[in-house]
Amino acid sequence: MFKAVKHFNHVTFQFPIVKKMYANHLRRIKWPNHPLRIMDIGCGTGRVLLEILEPQLPRHYSEIVGVDFNQNMIDVCNKLERDSRITFEVMDIETKAIPKKFSNSFDLVTSCFALHYVRDLRRALVNCNNLLKVKSELVLIFSYVGNPLYEVYKTMSSIEEWNPYTKGFQNYVPLFSPTNPLQELKLIFNECGLDVLESELNHDPYESVSENFLALFASVDFIYPTIPTNKKQEYEKDFTKIFANIAGLSFEEKDLKKKAHMYFPAITVRGRKLR
Ligand SMILES: C[S@@+](CC[C@H](N)C(=O)[O-])C[C@H]1O[C@@H](n2cnc3c(N)ncnc32)[C@H](O)[C@@H]1O
Repeated sequence: MFKAVKHFNHVTFQFPIVKKMYANHLRRIKWPNHPLRIMDIGCGTGRVLLEILEPQLPRHYSEIVGVDFNQNMIDVCNKLERDSRITFEVMDIETKAIPKKFSNSFDLVTSCFALHYVRDLRRALVNCNNLLKVKSELVLIFSYVGNPLYEVYKTMSSIEEWNPYTKGFQNYVPLFSPTNPLQELKLIFNECGLDVLESELNHDPYESVSENFLALFASVDFIYPTIPTNKKQEYEKDFTKIFANIAGLSFEEKDLKKKAHMYFPAITVRGRKLR
């Protein structure tokens, strides 16, 4: 089974909290009357976009484009039943050049749980700026005290067997310090030509059965495809063991269907393009 399909099947436990986080910001936007162009960055398998975000948007949008840098995710999205105004494309938000057809053309940019995967947040935010029309807004949700997947890679980089694949993460540090993340966010936004209109931290615990937490993170594991076939099984075993430690969960067969909680503290921010 494609890991992207795994993402599709295991992502729904996030919906109630994500719905609340989006609603807090989207309801304060004063929507222009003209037909709206909207882009969702790191759309994954499209479920949050279609089931949580789209129902909260005004009906007079002309286009919603979901982008993700993973072709497998976009392939899943393209099979979904949806409004004909919604399309999906492969795009990396850290790209050096935003395609011309997207430049300065969106009335809203959104992103849910994708930006903590970028290695260069400034580049990603400058690109968000480039996508937006002047004075248009963006609503972003992302983890700030650490990306559990990158924490796993960091630990794996200290294991000789996995170091060749994960060494890019041996010095991984989270995007923001836990002490004053909203102040740091404001500074980075300003450097990237964006203004913070409102920002919040969300610490709600996510509740689900443990296998969903494992499946969700394994589904976005982009090192796995680079592991030689004869080592994949051993890699998955180590990945599971290390992720269990980091998340404080048990993925023993007997515990997979048991209720568990996981925390991924998030920053949610509504901002505006200044120039
Ligand atoms: C945890 S998933 C979130 C998917 C979806 N937004 C949701 O909330 O369910 C993160 C997604 O971000 C995508 N992603 C990570 N880095 C990216 C980048 N630089 N550009 C575009 N997409 C990226 C990954 O491929 C993955 O599909």
